[in-house]
This record gives sequence, structure tokens and C-alpha cells, in this order.
Amino acid sequence: MSNRVMIFDTTLRDGEQALAASLTVKEKLQIALALERLGVDVMEVGFPVSSPGDFKSVQTIAQTIKNSRVCALSRALEKDIDAAAQALSVAEQFRIHTFISTSTIHVESKLKRSFDQVLEMAVGAVKYARRFTDDVEFSCEDAGRTPIDNLCRMVEEAIKAGARTINIPDTVGYTLPSEFGSIIQTLFNRVPNIDQAVISVHCHDDLGLSVANSITAVQHGARQIECTINGIGERAGNCSLEEIAMILETRKGQLGFETGINAQEIHRTSALVSNLCNMPVQANKAIVGSNAFTHSSGIHQDGMLKSKNTYEIMTPESIGLNRNNLNMTSRSGRHVIKHRMMEMGYSEQDYDMDTLYDAFLDLADKKGQVFDYDLEALVFIEAQTEQDDHFTLQALAVQSDSVQGKASATVTLNVDGHDATQTASGNGPVDAAYQAISQASDCKINITSYQLSAKGEGQNALGQVDITASYHDRRFHGVGLATDVVEASVQALIHVMNLARRADKVADHKQRIKQSRDFTTV
Ligand code: KIV
Ligand code: ZN
Repeated sequence: MSNRVMIFDTTLRDGEQALAASLTVKEKLQIALALERLGVDVMEVGFPVSSPGDFKSVQTIAQTIKNSRVCALSRALEKDIDAAAQALSVAEQFRIHTFISTSTIHVESKLKRSFDQVLEMAVGAVKYARRFTDDVEFSCEDAGRTPIDNLCRMVEEAIKAGARTINIPDTVGYTLPSEFGSIIQTLFNRVPNIDQAVISVHCHDDLGLSVANSITAVQHGARQIECTINGIGERAGNCSLEEIAMILETRKGQLGFETGINAQEIHRTSALVSNLCNMPVQANKAIVGSNAFTHSSGIHQDGMLKSKNTYEIMTPESIGLNRNNLNMTSRSGRHVIKHRMMEMGYSEQDYDMDTLYDAFLDLADKKGQVFDYDLEALVFIEAQTEQDDHFTLQALAVQSDSVQGKASATVTLNVDGHDATQTASGNGPVDAAYQAISQASDCKINITSYQLSAKGEGQNALGQVDITASYHDRRFHGVGLATDVVEASVQALIHVMNLARRADKVADHKQRIKQSRDFTTV
């Protein structure tokens, strides 16, 4: 059996479905490109039947990604499989992933069917999906709690029907590593046609065992691990890709497995996913937490100075974390910025040099010194800005008296080409600025969460504001970054307003198409 373990990333499907606000198509594409650079074998990027937005993002990613296989999810239903096949058909090679629950509790309580009926649906779905592609994956949802005889039967029949990958999820994160290992071992011992499929595992982290379970499964013959960046996903999340990749790399001598992951891209991909998904990474998270390579106690620092391997089992550089934080000033020329970006792993396609350099000079004037993380933040913000933004900030002036608890703000907003200026008061500068924006625009947004964090170190950090807001029953995530936290707050709100406005336009357009279609049918 080969020692190559396939990495199947489901950040954009299982991870995304657990977010407070959905990602835009553009954000999903940014993540897909980062996953491709990271070297994932397969990326599952959505559930096309679930919404037109999901369909569109699967299609856009399938059109763009060339070096990883793009996959979409479907229930064991023909209409789901049709939608997945249609969205993926623009790709050169794609995978359809179809699933149904197999545990007694799911079969009886959720599906309200007998196990034999479910078996028949699974076989039908796999055969139907094979009409569109040879690459069909079948998942036994809640396999971890499925009676082993039923699981063996289901796996054998799905392989007979044409599934080339069989996924064994621990959907509720319940099994212990020894139990999960024994499930995989039993499948290898008892399913006669098991050699005709790759066995995959998909573990959730409810008891913090998803990574241990996945590694144990590989030791018992599984050769695909399903995981997400930063472990994002339903409830306590999914198995974390970066942990799996670094375990298999750091303990290769003991475990003996290979992956196609380019570990140098881990840090950057993790930061991108955390920012776009508005899911901060806990400081002590393995591999990608901000403390993962920090040595705090005197004894540890002393050991590190004498020899790095006293307390370091892998280097920060191995995951692309550069400790060499050069600072730049307004005297740094374009070639310095370009060179620095290249050293940080960015290619010229990742950003627009003119826009980046203008933003850099602007920031250097305000801060004096600009660091690597500032450049990364500028690239991130540039990627969020669209040419056709309906609202742009022209001017912002605030006055605040914290003792009296009073503040006022004057905001000039460009609304579709026309400047509108409003002054308002509030219980603090952010509140006052938000009131002024609300008066200057026709956009009434309901903010459901507001987070302020520091991007960078110490006094030199930029303020980052993330807000989640609801508008016409949809949720949006906006982000703002600036040296001034009120300005960052205003940018985050304007970002959300532009997203909401764009969603309105798409809805209007669809409505007009529908009306003209209804008219033609009459
Ligand atoms: O957790 C799970 O069982 C799933 C399946 C759809 C694979 O996400
Ligand atoms: Zn899952």
C-alpha cells in the first residue's frame, strides 16, 4: 500500500457552513487559490444545491483551480447530484461527493427509513453520480456510531456501485482513537472489495480527538484525511489541516507517510482564512497560534539560546513564519517593497503594485515605520475593495469628551458618485460616526457583533475592526484596518454596506430576469 496520504480540504464546505456570515464568491476564490498554493490534493468548495450563491462559487472555483481537484457535496438525491455536476462541469477534472447517514440513530430519527432503504438510496446515488465522473466519493455520515456489520455492508455496496473513495466520518466527534482505528481495521479485514477504493476519514473535534483519530486511521490503512484550515467547522470544528500536515512531516521517521502539502504556505493560508472568516485563532493553538513558537519562561529562553532543539521540534520558518520582521519607511522605494513581498512569498499577481505602494506611503506617513505584517494587511484590504463600491469614505472628523461621555462625528460619504456630509452625536466616537453614516446613506444595517483587535505588535500595531451585520435576512462580515480605530470601525461598516448593496443589486437583477421570463411564458 502506498505511503502517500491525500489531503482533502473542506474549509470552504464544512468550515464555511459554520460561519456567522457567509463568504462572498471573491473571498472563497481567494481561499481556494491559497489552498491550491498550499498543495491540497482535493478541495471541497461547496454544496451547490443549497443556494444560488454556493452554486456560483463552486462554478467560479472549478473554472479557476487547475492543480487541485475540485469537489462539491450532494445528498444522496438526484437533484443534488445534478446541481453538483452542473456547477463542476467547467472543471477539467472534478469529484462528486455524495453522502447519507448510516448510524441507527440517524437512519431512524432523521431519515425515518430502514437501513435497507438507505442502502438502496446510497447505491442509487453513487451510480447516478458515476454518470458524470469516474471520481465519486461516498460518505457514511455518522459512521463512528454505525453498527459495524451495517457499515461493512454499506461500504462494500458503495464500492460495487462505483465509489472510488469511501469516507468514514466521525460526524459527532465521539469515538476514541482506539475505537476509530479498529473501525478502519475491521473494514480492511471484512470488506472484500476494499482494495478498489481509497479509504478516507473525516473527524470532528467535539472531544478534541479529531487529529488523533485521523492519524490513527492512517496507521490502520486510511489514505485520505479530510480537514480544514485552523480546524474551522461545525460546533468544535473539524480536524485541523496544519496539525495533520506538520505531524506527518515532523514525525515522518516514526510514521513514514508523505503528503503533497507545501508547509511553507501554512502560516499565510491560516492568517487569510482567519481574517476572511472572522474566526480568530486561539493564541496557544498548535502550529498556527501566535504563541506556537514563543518561549516565555526564563529556563526555556536560556535553553533556546544554547540550542534551538532544546525546546523547538519544528521551526517557525518551516510553516512560512518569518521572524525577520524588517521595517520600512516612506524612503523605501518600490523595489524594496516588491522584494519584501517576494520574500514573504507573494507573487506579483497577488496584488497591484501601484495601489500597494500608494497605500504603503500613506501608512508610512502616519506610522513612521511599516513592518511585514502591515504590508500583508494592506494587501488583504486591497483585495476586499472593489472598483464599483457604492459607498466610499471621503472625510472623517471626530470630537470626543470621555469624561462627559459625549462625542460627535462629521462624515463625508461618497454615495454612488455624490458626496453627502452629516454630523451626528453619540455615546462615543464610533457610535457618533456610525450615526452620521446612517444619516448620510440610505443603508440601514443591523450590527450583530463588533470586534476590535491589534494587527501587529505593541504601539506600532494597526487597529482591525471586524463586524458582522444583518441586512434583509442575510449576514455580512466587514473588516477595516487603520492606524486610528475609529477610522477602522468606519471602514468596516462601509465594507458591510457595500457588500449588502451588491447583494441587493444581484437580487434586483434576478428579479428582473424572473419577471421577463414570467412575461415571456405568458
Ligand atoms: O461530518 C460529516 O459527516 C460530514 C459529511 C457530509 C461528510 O460533513
Ligand atoms: Zn463534517
